[in-house]
Amino acid sequence: MDAEDHDCAWPQAGRTRLVLQSPISFLGTGLPSNEDALLSRLAPDTVMMMGDNPALPRMPDRPHLLDFFRLRFQDLTCRHLLQSANLALKAGMDEKVIMACLLHDISNGALIRVDHGYWSAQLVAPYVDEEVAWAVKYHQPLRYFADESVGYQYPDGYHRFFGPDYVIPEYIRRDAEEARRHRWYMTSRLVTLHDLYSFDPAVTVDPDIFTDIIGRNFRSPAEGLGFDGSPVAHMWRTMIWPNNFL
Ligand SMILES: [Fe+2]
Ligand SMILES: [Fe+2]
Repeated sequence: MDAEDHDCAWPQAGRTRLVLQSPISFLGTGLPSNEDALLSRLAPDTVMMMGDNPALPRMPDRPHLLDFFRLRFQDLTCRHLLQSANLALKAGMDEKVIMACLLHDISNGALIRVDHGYWSAQLVAPYVDEEVAWAVKYHQPLRYFADESVGYQYPDGYHRFFGPDYVIPEYIRRDAEEARRHRWYMTSRLVTLHDLYSFDPAVTVDPDIFTDIIGRNFRSPAEGLGFDGSPVAHMWRTMIWPNNFL
């Protein structure tokens, strides 16, 4: 008997759970909003999805950072974050750089891609050194600008992703300029450097090798991420219950 068969194991058991995508996931894609269609299906045997979704791995009651890596993050981002942190580790980088590498694209894992450096920094800010969150935020704008002193060039991938005629937005230019003048510039620049070489699909890195570094550099709340009352707790809860109707 699997967990789904236990009445008490999953909320809303025995009914069809209706999942409405968040607006940000379908706006502009040509896919229609299914809001009206889903709501019209409400009946005694259907519910709008709330709480643990049996279609996803169950999270622990008090989840920690690596639980999100293992149970929520999409493969590409998970592999990429671990790979970039591992490169920084092998290069003998400061733990702040390793930590920033491990977290730099974290919002892409299971939350949101748009302005991912800014979202990722906000997600981790209450739990890491200010310099780490700063480096995570500014890696996004710095990715667009070369720094010959460390051998960083505009990524070939960006030509492919965005087209050769892509115009870098003003806020990205402004923030990259601000970062360049900042005392923590090199911390963020080193993130962009290790970022660049961390897209090898053949490389798999065991998350457990970062357990000690995380222990020293990430103030994991005793209540678990999502339940500590921090200003970003709701963002972690959104990843635990991404399909909640409200
Ligand atoms: Fe990034
Ligand atoms: Fe990245």
